[in-house]
Amino acid sequence: MPAFGTHRGMQHALIEKHAKPAPRYTSYPTAPHFHEGVDRAAYRRWLASINASQSLSLYVHIPYCDTLCWFCGCNTKYTRKYWPVADYLPVVKTEISKVAAHLAETAGVQTIHWGGGSPTILTPDDTLDLATHIRDRFDVAPSAGFSIEIDPRGMGADKIEALATAGVTRASIGVQDFDAGVQMIINRRQSFEETKDVIFELRRVGIEKINIDLIYGLPGQTISSVAATVAKVQELMPSRIALFGYAHVPWMKTHQRMLDEAMLPDAHARFEQSRIMADLLCAGGYELIGMDHFALPDDPLSQARRAGRLRRNFQGYTDDPADVLLGFGASAIGKLREGYVHNATPTAEYKKLIADHGLAVVNGYALKPDDELRAYVIERLICDFAISRQLARAQFGAAADEIFLIAGGIARDDEDGLVDWDDDVFRITKRGEPFVRSICSQFDGYLERGNVRHSMAV
Ligand SMILES: C[S@@+](CC[C@H](N)C(=O)[O-])C[C@H]1O[C@@H](n2cnc3c(N)ncnc32)[C@H](O)[C@@H]1O
Ligand code: SF4
Repeated sequence: MPAFGTHRGMQHALIEKHAKPAPRYTSYPTAPHFHEGVDRAAYRRWLASINASQSLSLYVHIPYCDTLCWFCGCNTKYTRKYWPVADYLPVVKTEISKVAAHLAETAGVQTIHWGGGSPTILTPDDTLDLATHIRDRFDVAPSAGFSIEIDPRGMGADKIEALATAGVTRASIGVQDFDAGVQMIINRRQSFEETKDVIFELRRVGIEKINIDLIYGLPGQTISSVAATVAKVQELMPSRIALFGYAHVPWMKTHQRMLDEAMLPDAHARFEQSRIMADLLCAGGYELIGMDHFALPDDPLSQARRAGRLRRNFQGYTDDPADVLLGFGASAIGKLREGYVHNATPTAEYKKLIADHGLAVVNGYALKPDDELRAYVIERLICDFAISRQLARAQFGAAADEIFLIAGGIARDDEDGLVDWDDDVFRITKRGEPFVRSICSQFDGYLERGNVRHSMAV
């Protein structure tokens, strides 16, 4: 299944016209619209309103890495010493205890995810200690999935054993690109052999669900280098692959200035790279999930996509069905029925807030009915490339009609065959799929407000 099949000349014109910067829509409204009106008091109220019908998903953020990649857009800090991590962990454990103490009955924890930074910077003992602390404070279902982001460089067998003992079920491994020249430019030297050995060990200890993260649009990448990387990745047989377009945001991540902007592939080259990679992955048996993930047909993400159960959250595409996402750690974002809460990002501020108040929320967003409707529409479009008036009306009543006025307008103005509209289903066509972020942004009630800059939408 060619993911992005378009004639070259036409494709060039489409990119010129539609590849505008746009949000990645891992939430709606997006984080730049969060405000201080949502504070610790709001979070306490929202936590207390969680009831026995609501299942939980827990996210723990570890904002440390022992080496810094120049492309990195994550909330992380470089540290050569372990003491900042050792100082941070008791604070996160305090936050976990305090939040758990605010909860009455819940339907239990369905999913745990540790992200970063690099959660695998933790020593084996600290990994086990943190996992045990979570299981002691929350009712974690025996069937709960536990995924963790892994930097495979320097991962010893002891750390891998500790992950298995902690109950990890899925490992998400950062690769980005296997080309030695590209790795030099982005300050990330990571051999294929080392990556392969870590995956072998993970499988040996029983962690068989493997994801791999790749990036296109990095300086030094070419069509042939990304194709060679995909071929190597296929040898590792991950069940999922996340293929991110490099987000160049040096005004936010100043270390990205280490990269020479003159070497960045332009929108056309980025498009070609993503298309080649997508085509190779699909030819190799992977299914395209949304705009930038791939999964084998028997992976739960593929099953969720086929069943219309695909979701999008701060980790990207997910099959996580939980009603509430609780975020722990510096910069973590939570999502409750009432809205979003966002912890302080600087670790010093986060630690002080937890020490003084037990919670570290500094801003967030209380969802209004119109936000919930638009959030639903944008999530369905970015997951399914389609929205149905009938389904939207069943959930939101006549308010949904306003959305379909916008949809009708987009369809009327569409000169390029990017969308289809038959009065019930508004669908993004194969040709329109690469521009899904731009199309979603037309349903975004906040985009024009504020001075927010976004990364390239293609
Ligand atoms: C927290 S890291 C993964 C775990 C570990 N720290 C590592 O790098 O191996 C999350 C992923 O985000 C992606 N990422 C980071 N910075 C990015 C950027 N500027 N643009 C696009 N993707 C990015 C990378 O693919 C990376 O693997
Ligand atoms: S990409 Fe991963 S390892 Fe590299 S700096 Fe970012 S979080 Fe750390």
